[in-house]
Amino acid sequence: MLKGRATASGTGAYASRFAGLPGNFRAMIGLSVSSIGIGTYLGEPDEETDREYEAALAAAVGGGINLIDTAINYRFQRSERTIGRVLAAMAARGEIRREEIVVATKGGYITFDGEVPPNPRAWFDEHFIRTGIASPDDLVEGSHCMTPKWLAAMLEMSRANLGLETIDIYYLHNPETQLNGVSRPEFLDRIRAAFEMLEGAAADGKIGVYGTATWNGYRVPATERAWLSLDELWRVAYEVGGEKHHFRAIQLPYNLAMPEAVTLANQPVQKQRGTTLAVASAMEMGVCASASLLQGRLARGLPPILREAFAEFTSDAQRSIQFVRSTPGINVALVGMKSVAHVTDVLATASHPPATQEQLMKLFQPAR
Ligand SMILES: NC(=O)c1ccc[n+]([C@@H]2O[C@H](COP(=O)([O-])OP(=O)(O)OC[C@H]3O[C@@H](n4cnc5c(N)ncnc54)[C@H](OP(=O)(O)O)[C@@H]3O)[C@@H](O)[C@H]2O)c1
Repeated sequence: MLKGRATASGTGAYASRFAGLPGNFRAMIGLSVSSIGIGTYLGEPDEETDREYEAALAAAVGGGINLIDTAINYRFQRSERTIGRVLAAMAARGEIRREEIVVATKGGYITFDGEVPPNPRAWFDEHFIRTGIASPDDLVEGSHCMTPKWLAAMLEMSRANLGLETIDIYYLHNPETQLNGVSRPEFLDRIRAAFEMLEGAAADGKIGVYGTATWNGYRVPATERAWLSLDELWRVAYEVGGEKHHFRAIQLPYNLAMPEAVTLANQPVQKQRGTTLAVASAMEMGVCASASLLQGRLARGLPPILREAFAEFTSDAQRSIQFVRSTPGINVALVGMKSVAHVTDVLATASHPPATQEQLMKLFQPAR
């Protein structure tokens, strides 16, 4: 197991090795993180994809990306295990130090072990129900659980898979899923229990900070069932963890086709309403944008207006990522990559400084 965690001095030293990437590194939760992070969600749960991700992760970490995003259920734990192998090998070869790299993972969804078992139901009963880790009542939609017992078990599995003593950012994965099964007061009770467990994990050095990685929660109107209030969650964290609580990061989809984080004022704070990005920034939370390429679709043909706005870039993937990484309030644009060619293409974006506010605003003005 690699000891330690990402630190201010370690991530700062990493950033100083990449002088050719202007504006790539930003301050987030007291660390220097790259404006682009590598995601590991998509792909088949097989060995060939493991090998592809191994090469892509090594190219990313070797090329100026020091934030890796995963989840225990991504490719049935194969993504976490692949990251663990890559980090251990790079550290053993002296190419990186643990302190330089920020690793984020998530717990909440049921996961199998590397592949779908022949009888998924029986497998789940044997591994999670009979062992007492979960009871059928804990599950929402038959697939989501965030009881302290479940999260504690998932955290231990993630630490083992990643080979890390401390996970830098641990997210509750799509916690809004629970709102499909329970009332909002019950949901907040469950959040409180989860945050208590995560504050304990931070005190034990098993995680650095924790957060909420969401799909709908922060980008739907407050009238929707799946809506999450940052202020409400922040208050729960404050109540369980005090002034120095560790609820410090959020993740939500943000890209050229899903701009709600910056266009929808759905977060009430003290009788006012702000956008998720404005409120998260005011709380000094780390913000990672997921699906920066709309799961690859934005890399396959942007309208001319967007090509013109980012004329200095050579691919639509680069233009789409430039939009995300330049948006005020976004710390990291997460891009899923299992191809080394994509890593090279995406890293070329970071050789440009982020777009100015003026350049970005042109995108929101009607064409003449
Ligand atoms: N609720 C949540 O918590 C949540 C939800 C979604 C995503 N996420 C996180 O955010 C990360 C990013 O989202 P995502 O992976 O779903 O989607 P994405 O980043 O929008 O798109 C990934 C896709 O784009 C392709 N791609 C990458 N670079 C490219 C390039 N330069 N040119 C053309 N195609 C390119 C990738 O291909 P290759 O893989 O073949 O390289 C992959 O198919 C995830 O990996 C995950 O870590 C979190």
